[in-house]
Amino acid sequence: MSEFNFDEVVDRKGTNALKTDVLKERYGRDDLISLWVADMDFLSPPAISEAIIDRAKHCLYGYTCTPKEYTDSIINWVKRSHGWDIKQEWLSFIPGIVKGIAFVIDCFTEKQDKVVIQPPVYHPFRIIPTLHRRTVVDNPLVLSAGKYEMDLENLKSVIDDSCKILILCNPHNPGGRVWTKQELIDLAEICYERNILVISDEIHSDLVHQENKHIPFASVSEKAAQNSITFMAPSKTFNIAGIVSSYSIIPNDKIRNRFYNYLKSSELDEGHIFAYVATQTAYEKCDNWLKEAVEYIWQNIQFVDNYLKTNIPQVKAIIPQASYLVWLDCRELNLTQEQLVSLFVNDAKLALNDGSMFGQGGTGFMRLNVGSPRSVLAQAMDNLKKALSK
Ligand SMILES: Cc1ncc(COP(=O)(O)O)c(C=O)c1O
Repeated sequence: MSEFNFDEVVDRKGTNALKTDVLKERYGRDDLISLWVADMDFLSPPAISEAIIDRAKHCLYGYTCTPKEYTDSIINWVKRSHGWDIKQEWLSFIPGIVKGIAFVIDCFTEKQDKVVIQPPVYHPFRIIPTLHRRTVVDNPLVLSAGKYEMDLENLKSVIDDSCKILILCNPHNPGGRVWTKQELIDLAEICYERNILVISDEIHSDLVHQENKHIPFASVSEKAAQNSITFMAPSKTFNIAGIVSSYSIIPNDKIRNRFYNYLKSSELDEGHIFAYVATQTAYEKCDNWLKEAVEYIWQNIQFVDNYLKTNIPQVKAIIPQASYLVWLDCRELNLTQEQLVSLFVNDAKLALNDGSMFGQGGTGFMRLNVGSPRSVLAQAMDNLKKALSK
């Protein structure tokens, strides 16, 4: 028996939801089924809403310190979910992971330095360093037999002494890979030897499917631990992105002191009332919700995959090992990227992410967010099938 109703269609229009309320601006029309930005259309766990409402009812929202219970809940969660022992002093609140990436770039690099990314990858990995006028170096992932791999030989050949940071997406968005321990050890070895600090963005780490197991980058070896900054958050996991509740974990003293002094100097490490309440509740009271959500997402992935295989075999789903983002390989449609996007938007009335925004290797792909009720996905698939049969 399920305790939560993930089939419920919740109307998000008019709530300033990015997913629904900027369609006209972004896609040129607003009569679309919205399956793009990475949050889910499910209600967040009731325990979180109740805790927030409870706190809100106190009606006095003055300056708030970081409760020990909040920090403890993160330490326990990371141990319980990912088997990684972290210390209280390694932790800091950050006001978002994308912002965290910007802070690391600002704190650890100069204008002439380079940042390495592995496209196709979450687009802010390219946008943020570029806006900070750092050069981005691509080490493209390789797609082989429906699965993305890191090309570590190529990495060795593209990096030089100006490369100061590598941004790792662990698990990977949009490719859906949960990296293996060996892959992470090998990556850590190269980055350590070449003096490249690794930012490991682990925002999707709690949403792993089936037999896959998330492995925190910093936990794989001493070289990884001593040369990395890990970012995590309950935001994707429990659908609370709007609350802003990310945090960083840094085992190495020198890196930690430098980065946390940087944050402190602008009070960027100070959380807020509802981040503390939501994070602690998420990590202590929402296991059942998460278990059911992951299972529902997995069934959605299967639904989309089966639908495509039966009805639209030219479009292939890369099955994600984690999270709710399905990378659709549309190359067999033989369309230009402009035609492909227009097919989805204007013919099928669907708002997905244009694969080309994820950089090299993204052309010919679209990213589908399946964190929606199955009936919505069924409608979306039917729309696509009809659009293609025209
Ligand atoms: C890999 C990855 N990192 C970071 C974010 C955003 O994190 P934040 O809202 O904490 O900046 C996303 C959101 O889609 C993401 O997919």
